[in-house]
Amino acid sequence: MKELIDKLQESKALSKHEWTVLIEGRSPELAEYLFRQARSVRHRYYGRDVYVRGLIEFTNYCKNDCLYCGIRKSNLKASRYRLSKEEILSCCKTGYSLGFRTFVLQGGEDAGYDDARLCDIISAIKTGWPDCAITLSVGERSYDSYKALRDAGADRYLLRHETYDAEHYAKLHPPLLKAADRQDCLWNLKKAGYQVGTGFMVGSPYQTAGHLAEDMMFIKELDPQMVGIGPFIPHHDTPFAGQPSGTLELTLFMLGLLRLMIPKVLLPATTALGTIHPQGRELGIQAGANVVMPNLSPTSVRKDYALYDNKICTGDEAAECRNCLERRMESIGYHVVTARGDSLNK
Ligand code: SAM
Ligand code: FES
Repeated sequence: MKELIDKLQESKALSKHEWTVLIEGRSPELAEYLFRQARSVRHRYYGRDVYVRGLIEFTNYCKNDCLYCGIRKSNLKASRYRLSKEEILSCCKTGYSLGFRTFVLQGGEDAGYDDARLCDIISAIKTGWPDCAITLSVGERSYDSYKALRDAGADRYLLRHETYDAEHYAKLHPPLLKAADRQDCLWNLKKAGYQVGTGFMVGSPYQTAGHLAEDMMFIKELDPQMVGIGPFIPHHDTPFAGQPSGTLELTLFMLGLLRLMIPKVLLPATTALGTIHPQGRELGIQAGANVVMPNLSPTSVRKDYALYDNKICTGDEAAECRNCLERRMESIGYHVVTARGDSLNK
């Protein structure tokens, strides 16, 4: 097994069979071996810096019905909200003063924000804080839409492919949503000139080591600037309410593998990882991650952006979250930095 990790470090690629064997055959000892190498690669390129992204969850309206997601349209118990342009700008103002130089605008697929409205918000942010990067995470749109948002000033786009395998994808999504369409969007985002982030949930229902192997191979081919992974966590008002969460152990292992496969990639230690374990984000950094994404959304709406149960930080002011993360990172010998934090994986 250690030889497979050495091979990954050297050639930055494995076959599907090798990925599957490595993921299925992992052990605590092997994980420690992997994390040591992942940390050393991370330190080579990014030192002990941790980049922060201010996450603004600006709408929880969604036309989609993903079976795992708490803001799916069939969840009639979700209390829906939209932030106005002024509210979003006020989040940026607070965020800038706290040292954020990247704002992530994330939301459901909400027709209430057409291209014109989003472009207007993007250019207002760019006018107010020209030294900041804007990351969008608003799902599947046409190439023309991605291009218009890019031309308005958006720099980066996060769109997890969720799972590469078409059959597995079909078990997690309603029939109209297709794995291939999601993947096409990622290629279109690259073509439109974005720094692109993809990713997947770890431990989603019906997921096998073979699926994870294919996810790794797809990510290798896409060669993105960012990869967001976190454990699947059930939400009580979805069809997957009774399913078990993904584990800390497998999520950390996948983070380590991603760091070795694409050494310069930006890798967040996600809120979901912090939700399944009190030290999840610290452990994520120690497994090779180099980004954290504290919440900048107004506290009045935080609890309504409930993708899964027991999400952390829903009651905290932005400044509390920022300070909390700074302390957490310092406690393990890492430092939150005030920088745009562009990927070195060009
Ligand atoms: N609508 C945009 C999209 O489709 O990319 C962005 C919002 S979507 C809620 C963001 C991510 O949340 C998804 O890509 C998914 O991986 C993650 N997510 C949704 N439900 C989750 C759950 N129950 N557990 C963990 N992650 C979840
Ligand atoms: Fe939000 Fe710790 S990161 S309170």
